[in-house]
Amino acid sequence: MKTTPAQKWWQTAVFYQIYPRSFADGNRDGIGDLAGMRSRLDYLKDLGIDALWLSPHYPSPMCDCGYDVSDYIGVAPEYGTLDEFKQFLDEAHQRSIRVILDLVLNHTSDQHAWFQESRSSLDNPKRDWYIWKKGKDGQPPNDWSSTFGGPAWEHDPLTDEYYYHFFFKSQPDLNWHNPQVREAMWNVVRFWFRLGVDGFRLDAVGTIFEDERWRDNKLPYTVDDMHAFSKAAHTPAEQRQVHRKWMKLFEKQVDLPGVHPLMQELRRVVDEFNDRVLVGETEDISFYGSGDDELHLSFNFPLMHTRLITPAWVRANQAARLAALPPDAWPCNTLGNHDSSRMISSFGDGEHDRELAEVNLAMLLFIKGTPFLYNGEEIGMTDYLISDINQIRDPLSNHIYNLEIKSGTDSQEAALIAARHGRDICRTPLQWKNAPNGGFCPEGVTPWLPVNPNYAQGINVEQQLADPSSLLQAYRLLLGVRKQNPALQAGEYQPVLTGSRSVLAFTRTAPGQTCLVAINYTPKNRTVRVPELNRVSRVILASKTGGHPSTGGKLVLQPYEVWVGELSGA
Ligand code: GLC
Repeated sequence: MKTTPAQKWWQTAVFYQIYPRSFADGNRDGIGDLAGMRSRLDYLKDLGIDALWLSPHYPSPMCDCGYDVSDYIGVAPEYGTLDEFKQFLDEAHQRSIRVILDLVLNHTSDQHAWFQESRSSLDNPKRDWYIWKKGKDGQPPNDWSSTFGGPAWEHDPLTDEYYYHFFFKSQPDLNWHNPQVREAMWNVVRFWFRLGVDGFRLDAVGTIFEDERWRDNKLPYTVDDMHAFSKAAHTPAEQRQVHRKWMKLFEKQVDLPGVHPLMQELRRVVDEFNDRVLVGETEDISFYGSGDDELHLSFNFPLMHTRLITPAWVRANQAARLAALPPDAWPCNTLGNHDSSRMISSFGDGEHDRELAEVNLAMLLFIKGTPFLYNGEEIGMTDYLISDINQIRDPLSNHIYNLEIKSGTDSQEAALIAARHGRDICRTPLQWKNAPNGGFCPEGVTPWLPVNPNYAQGINVEQQLADPSSLLQAYRLLLGVRKQNPALQAGEYQPVLTGSRSVLAFTRTAPGQTCLVAINYTPKNRTVRVPELNRVSRVILASKTGGHPSTGGKLVLQPYEVWVGELSGA
């Protein structure tokens, strides 16, 4: 791989998120596992990705699908053993694929030994590892909400105190003011780094600290009213209003400044090791710190906060984001993850979904920054609405279902709404072939979440590998183009054609290479006229025509064509 020496591996890499439960089932029990992941490493290598982010693989009662960790230095038995993890890591490294893990700092599972000890008595040495408070007149300590619904406090009859949980009640918040908590967690970090893990994605970093005055919000609504507010908000203005209400509700619980010294402390631990990366589940650029002393990457989530991605949207996003980043901070872009709607469903128009998926991928790979892909998007896996409430696994959906039933919605409609607002839509098993259960697990085995039946309509790996015109082949092609061109990995971004509603065009300039990228976002031919076209020395990619050079400073793009040319001179 050609990279400029100043570039770190995590700047040029393309990351691919694996949702372990749904990726590949090696032991045929209907649950993804390490053996499955290991058996697909060649697939991933051939796809052209450079690094993996594994959603939590730790032992967990799975109340929040692994984001409720009961042992930070183990492996969930249904995923395998620590030895199998090491084998997976070694085999990934042998293929030059790096592996980062998910680190859930804000909370543990209520089944974690730390919490079990903490709850056992008022004077247990671990009592202060979590946030315990006395109630007020038989009520919780204050009126704060949990982001997933209901109050943020759970009463524990054993000691007649309440513990605080920002997420589900099975996820008690750790008390990060306690130095013993910090040391215990930094030792977890060291444990995985010593095994050779390449970094961490930090879960929910914004929620680690709370306003220490613990005052009531005294708002006329709670989190459970938010669901009804969102349903009733149709116009963008109404939606902004709902967002403001949401922010107000949680202003004492998220984005407290104390998190920055904590991240600096973590960064010092990370810097005890060579060349590791920290990616925060946050869009807040303050997490880059001052002078490269906090996280290495923070996600450009605003890029995905739109209904349809358009050239104007991308230009505006890039202008704002790149201008806001601290000097030397490296951008990080994504269009989907295990909490969001699937990329092809979110950004499709219902008619050209496949084409839009391809142009959006090209955009993601060729703008400046580290791209993160989500497993299954490469074959165009779509959102799947599981309408049987008994098959739903995300407790968020169950909560929404109960709210709907309480407000009088009939049970079928309630299940659909719950499915639409929950996160199982994007977590269904990967569709490997046109076979029962999409080839994820054998016929007769019940997968942990139902497989989307559209595996039989060509949305599966095996068929797309054999089809040169498939989305999967487009992924491989575009990932290859990025890898072979240093400017696309490392170059500075400069928009061109800044007024176009149809074509997204920009240059990327690195030492020794400048590329011009032009992406037609429409179903019609579009003619691009920009002076840069007079400097094209080589056509790198013309996705629809196979390689037409530009003539006379003019380029005709086919519908949804992605075009990349190398420019000569400065
Ligand atoms: C993050 C995870 C999400 C999880 C939550 C609580 O937002 O991405 O899946 O439910 O944190 O850990």
